[in-house]
Amino acid sequence: MADNKIRKIAINTGGGDAPGLNAVIKAVTVAGLNRGWQVLGIRDGYNGLFLPENYPAGDGVINLTYELVENITALGGTILGTTNRGNPTRYPMKDTKGNVVEIDRTDEVLAGFKREGIDALVAIGGDGSLFMANGFVAKGLKVVGVPKTIDNDLDGTVITFGFDTAVSYATEAIDRLHTTAKSHGRIMIVEVMGRYAGWIALEAGVAASADAILIPEIPYDTNVVADHLNKLFKAGRKHAIVVVAEGAKPKGGDTAIIESEAGKSERLGGAAERLDKALKPLVQNEIRTVIMGHLLRGGAPNAFDRLLALRFGAAAVRALDEGMSGVMVALDPPTVRYVPLDQVSGRIRQVDVENDSMITARDLGICFGD
Ligand code: F6P
Repeated sequence: MADNKIRKIAINTGGGDAPGLNAVIKAVTVAGLNRGWQVLGIRDGYNGLFLPENYPAGDGVINLTYELVENITALGGTILGTTNRGNPTRYPMKDTKGNVVEIDRTDEVLAGFKREGIDALVAIGGDGSLFMANGFVAKGLKVVGVPKTIDNDLDGTVITFGFDTAVSYATEAIDRLHTTAKSHGRIMIVEVMGRYAGWIALEAGVAASADAILIPEIPYDTNVVADHLNKLFKAGRKHAIVVVAEGAKPKGGDTAIIESEAGKSERLGGAAERLDKALKPLVQNEIRTVIMGHLLRGGAPNAFDRLLALRFGAAAVRALDEGMSGVMVALDPPTVRYVPLDQVSGRIRQVDVENDSMITARDLGICFGD
């Protein structure tokens, strides 16, 4: 008769990477090994389990040891690899007519778990990955989710690891833009990631004294932004900084999307360029655009994100040890708690316009284009 004892767990990382992923992998591995469990790492989301043809050396699933995770807490990226294409629940394949259709390959993934003798999964991911992991719970797998994204747009947790590093880096970059913008009397438009949430734009914009911050939650009016900047110049300012979230959209317009393909999340981009074009006829000063893009995802996690990631990883293992499943670890300061996966997966948390950083920004005279 099968017992409920855990002997072997697996970890995977899905979606876009975020600084701190390796710290979670380290904590899960060490806390798992210390309990006498075997800890496996699945390569590239779930690919290592259900696409063995991609791993001719048979290393789609690897055995995680103390040695392998020894020096990875400070390392950016993920040693397991990740992917945001080829979601197994909507896997793109060609039909007999050559059309791309989406196939559910979940059963192959579940067969992979069975084949490897995996008792439980620690799934590290964003809304899409956690939604998928929650689907496995319904099919009998024990799962604990760990929320990850630089966008900080996951419901149920006060913050995700990776966000603080991204905000710190964006802030430093905007600080640098102030000096060059001032020398040339220019308007600098800085586009930052965040998908459909404006958290990075808001927090980095306020911290780095931007003059305008445009976020997806508040459709902007270009005339309002131009008026605000022109007033500043009239009052003696020599330069201005506008931070635009990649998901920001003008009133009556849509999010700028550059690619939309079956089995992949939409690719956002072009928000800064669109704003540059719209703003140009309305202002006197020269405009330059800077796209921060993946610079915000790369590099080492800062101390805050390392600690949060280690706490999340260790808490995920404790949850499994205590017999939990179908939960996500979440920060609810000062502690880490568990929230039901089905309450959070597939939902995104946007900036609440009553948020204190928003109110602070307005008190500081920062324009949101509304
Ligand atoms: O979700 C994280 C994120 O970095 C978003 O901010 C961004 O829109 C997206 O991933 C970019 O993904 P990719 O690496 O596929 O271009």
